[in-house]
Amino acid sequence: MAEKSKLVKVGVVGYGHLGQYLVERIQREGAAAGLSLAFVWNRNTERLRGSVPQELILEQLSQFTERVVDVIVEVCHPRIVEEFGAQFLSRAHFLVGSPTALADPQVDAELRRAAACHGKTLYVPSGALWGGQDIQRLNNSGGLKALSIRMSKHPSCFRLSGDLLSDWTEGEGRRVLFKGSVADLCPLAPNNVNTMAAAAIAADSLGFAGVTGEIVSDTKLSEFHVVEVEVTGADGFSVTTVRRNPARAGRSPGTPPAASFWSSLLCCEGHGGRVYLC
Ligand SMILES: NC(=O)c1ccc[n+]([C@@H]2O[C@H](COP(=O)([O-])OP(=O)(O)OC[C@H]3O[C@@H](n4cnc5c(N)ncnc54)[C@H](O)[C@@H]3O)[C@@H](O)[C@H]2O)c1
Repeated sequence: MAEKSKLVKVGVVGYGHLGQYLVERIQREGAAAGLSLAFVWNRNTERLRGSVPQELILEQLSQFTERVVDVIVEVCHPRIVEEFGAQFLSRAHFLVGSPTALADPQVDAELRRAAACHGKTLYVPSGALWGGQDIQRLNNSGGLKALSIRMSKHPSCFRLSGDLLSDWTEGEGRRVLFKGSVADLCPLAPNNVNTMAAAAIAADSLGFAGVTGEIVSDTKLSEFHVVEVEVTGADGFSVTTVRRNPARAGRSPGTPPAASFWSSLLCCEGHGGRVYLC
């Protein structure tokens, strides 16, 4: 593929599974895709040495202001979004890997304000959400009445705070762990419900408090995660989707989410001072 003349400079914040995947892929095929690395930050910089050129390693995240950067990608933790999200948007477009941070109405308002004020786009990856842009269109037209999302997985695939699922046994079958607002669910399962957070952001007329989220543990799901979305509009309008994502019990879902995240990154070319699902 021909290389693009002006490369989009990407800063990567976090160097876990997703961060490493993105950094390696930008290094390998970024030029052909129109991307180059501006910087990489990880709270433990030792993990970066040997894999990331020294001049691209940020020792302190606050030093990102010293770099020329077009898009900052957060792939570490909602706390970093709370602390740095608005600052990132004052300088660059921001692809938020941990959108559960926006369950806090103050963080949500702050990021939307920063995007509008600086003319930068807050990109939200749609992840495993099918039809996210359709939900956003229905929301924007005023026709969205209700939205609920159920995510079912093998218990070994959940990373929950607290002890909602400390006592599971193989063969126990299906167990509803939580059903309620996505606002209440995000703090309980910040790493598992990015898809629901993306849906709540798309459906901002309902908001995190108005979108229903359900997480279900099911020992029969050793090969798949299942994501069911039910959208309700006016006059009997409704859409229901069921998505089955290949994922082995006990293992991180791995490549499919990372590849989907890469596709999201390729969309981050600037869509004005607003929130954009990609
Ligand atoms: N939106 C999506 O589609 C999607 C898909 C997968 C993962 N995610 C999210 O992206 C983030 C990264 O996912 P991952 O699979 O790479 O996770 P990971 O656990 O492999 O990596 C997380 C990295 O962030 C660092 N980290 C953790 N807590 C931190 C904190 N408080 N401050 C600074 N650094 C911290 C860890 O040291 C690690 O390097 C997570 O929040 C995850 O929920 C989003």
